[in-house]
Amino acid sequence: MTHIVVLGSTNMDLVAYVEKAPQRGETVTGREFRTVPGGKGANQAVAAARAGAAVSMIGAVGNDTFGTRLRTGLEHSGVNTDHLRTVEGPSGTAHIVVDDEGGNSIVVIPGANGTLDHLVPGDEGLIGSADALLLQLEIPLSAVRAGARAARAHGVRTILTPAPARPLPPELLADIDLLVPNEHEAAALTGITDPVAAADALLRQVPQVVVTLGPAGCLYAARGAEPLTVPAPQVSAVDSTGAGDTFTGALAVALGEERPVREALAWAAAAAALSVQREGASASMPYRSEIDARYRP
Ligand code: RIB
Ligand code: NA
Repeated sequence: MTHIVVLGSTNMDLVAYVEKAPQRGETVTGREFRTVPGGKGANQAVAAARAGAAVSMIGAVGNDTFGTRLRTGLEHSGVNTDHLRTVEGPSGTAHIVVDDEGGNSIVVIPGANGTLDHLVPGDEGLIGSADALLLQLEIPLSAVRAGARAARAHGVRTILTPAPARPLPPELLADIDLLVPNEHEAAALTGITDPVAAADALLRQVPQVVVTLGPAGCLYAARGAEPLTVPAPQVSAVDSTGAGDTFTGALAVALGEERPVREALAWAAAAAALSVQREGASASMPYRSEIDARYRP
């Protein structure tokens, strides 16, 4: 079984479902409100566990009721939470508006995630025992860097989702094997809007890049190889929150199983397509048997 460690955020998603998101100064009446587990780190952990990996999460929740729910939610999906600390204060929250096209806008309040600025004893050993370490940018950069460094020191594959977008120090990118931005993050990192050209520019800093393109699928680029485009199954989106995290979690599992890259990408795209057809982030993520049933080579 592939062993994956995720170092990252855990948020309670406070989601308002509405026909159309309000403009500044506007008030609209929504349809439904839900609190559902999310956070880019926890989402990737759940996606990978449901896709068939043994997963451990390094993170932090607050000592509030959200913290308890977030921890048990991870455990119910089979994620090991021995390295998930509980800290004084509120858990991370994400304030999300989802419109009738399944699109969203999100404000994240880091809460407990903001305390995760270094590794503690035991974290490095756990990272060193993994096949892959998954990283995102919803915790302090100092911890992301420490995690990537520890993984690199132990020869563990590192996969970074550069979200939310921000400038990244070259020393961090030097420890990353696979970067998985969406098209906006790829543009923010490079100043180049064309995804193929942006991916090509990113290859100067990392050996492999996957740019996710939403309903259009994804673009894979590696040093010394022709770029590869893999389409996504066409589905009608209900809630795309966490679709990118689903993709990355499933991709990490497939790569850990040493499946060929094109196959791994198509399998991950099938997982993401399933997740956008259901509400919520973590809650909408498919299990391995569902992905296998949806996957078309
Ligand atoms: O990537 C989706 C996630 O971003 C949501 O679950 C929300 O918590 C925000 O962190
Ligand atoms: Na979803």
